[in-house]
Amino acid sequence: MTYRCMNCGLFVYDEPSGNQTINLEPGTTVEDIPDSYRCPVCAAPKSYLQTASDAAMPPKRADDGGRPVERDLIYYRRRAREQLTRLCGVYPVCDGDPSHLCTGQRYGAPIGLGGAGQAKTFEANYRALQQYRLKMRVIKAHHEPEMSISIFGKELTAPVMGAALSGVKNNMNDAIPEEEFYWGLLKGAQTFGTIGMVGNTPSSPEDLGVTTVGKNKGWGIPFFKPQSQDRLIKLFQLAEKLDVIAIGVDLEGAGSTSWVTPEKRVYRKSEDELQELVDCTKKPVIFKGIMSTDDAVKVVDSGASACYVSNHGGRVLDGGQGVAEVLPDIAEEISGTIPILADGTVRTGFDVLKIRALGADVALIGRPLAQVCIGGGYAAVKLYFEYVKDDLRRAMVMTGCDTLKDANMSILDKLGYL
Ligand SMILES: Cc1cc2nc3c(=O)[nH]c(=O)nc-3n(C[C@H](O)[C@H](O)[C@H](O)COP(=O)(O)O)c2cc1C
Repeated sequence: MTYRCMNCGLFVYDEPSGNQTINLEPGTTVEDIPDSYRCPVCAAPKSYLQTASDAAMPPKRADDGGRPVERDLIYYRRRAREQLTRLCGVYPVCDGDPSHLCTGQRYGAPIGLGGAGQAKTFEANYRALQQYRLKMRVIKAHHEPEMSISIFGKELTAPVMGAALSGVKNNMNDAIPEEEFYWGLLKGAQTFGTIGMVGNTPSSPEDLGVTTVGKNKGWGIPFFKPQSQDRLIKLFQLAEKLDVIAIGVDLEGAGSTSWVTPEKRVYRKSEDELQELVDCTKKPVIFKGIMSTDDAVKVVDSGASACYVSNHGGRVLDGGQGVAEVLPDIAEEISGTIPILADGTVRTGFDVLKIRALGADVALIGRPLAQVCIGGGYAAVKLYFEYVKDDLRRAMVMTGCDTLKDANMSILDKLGYL
């Protein structure tokens, strides 16, 4: 018999079924399951287990005559929950909450979709962003909000992009091949009308991300870890040959928990090294991992084409500042010089508007895209962007913003606590 947790959707099989679920002894019935049972994903009690007679099929709705449900975000997230068992509960809000599966100390094991250390920086990102409240204003002549932007010579449907992601093998239960993951991120973003980014993981060839962007005819941005200058320059040359939109280095990757072997090492970079990287290519260069005005000024001085404010989703330095804590000061210092990108618990279109108001040109989404890409590939990634855009439109209407330029500190109220 196959059972299903009616709280989180996890399937529990009575026969071996890959790495996705807990497995029961063949022939086990619900009566045999101890009363102390808790769902390994969401900790719901045994009473939430229901018989799922056809677990291999997509879930069905009782009221639609048994036809497969529409493949919406709920469906893709439910599939992701099954594939990310024990690592990520695909909770309603992905906020670094200390009670979530992904958080808490890992004692040296891979950090999955969580954060470094106790995941306090991951949590800080969420709290810092949510300490800002949007001010509602509804008496004003109606104009449809203008959401498109232009960056790196491309027109985007909305000021949102997919953050660089990687590491399915170590961090996402090896649920799908790394290349398929990259492809889903890139194609999903492109079909929506924006740009996807891909990262760099030590468990795959270091050029896998950039070659996948190449296969997508260059539509995408590869990010490379801050490896030795020689290796980076070779990767930059390959990226240029593949005609990618821009090239990124996640400088915060110097604190990566996985690039630690002697062959795969990461380093901090000096101002001269940044300059050398910018000078070695004609492509726009983005430096990511900027969390202070000092570093932001150095990025501008290096000749880079964008400054990316990020702490890697709290995955490299624990006990650190949240992105929304530092973004306004960085924006005040460098805005008008080069575009500012920012990420860190951006989950909804409302969050995108806040990030814009705090001073970034583009908001980027990380974990939610990883989840839906695992659950449904590019179609699910595209749907996530559409969902965000719908709420961004709503957020702009409700705060009196006709254009993205109207989104500034005046639409925000800051609570006095984090
Ligand atoms: C599983 C995972 C893998 C990541 N891999 C990379 C990477 O290879 N390169 C990179 O620059 N950032 C990487 N990041 C960081 C994201 O680009 C982004 O900064 C972060 O996820 C944003 O926070 P959010 O997930 O709360 O939206 C990764 C993040 C996660 C969760």
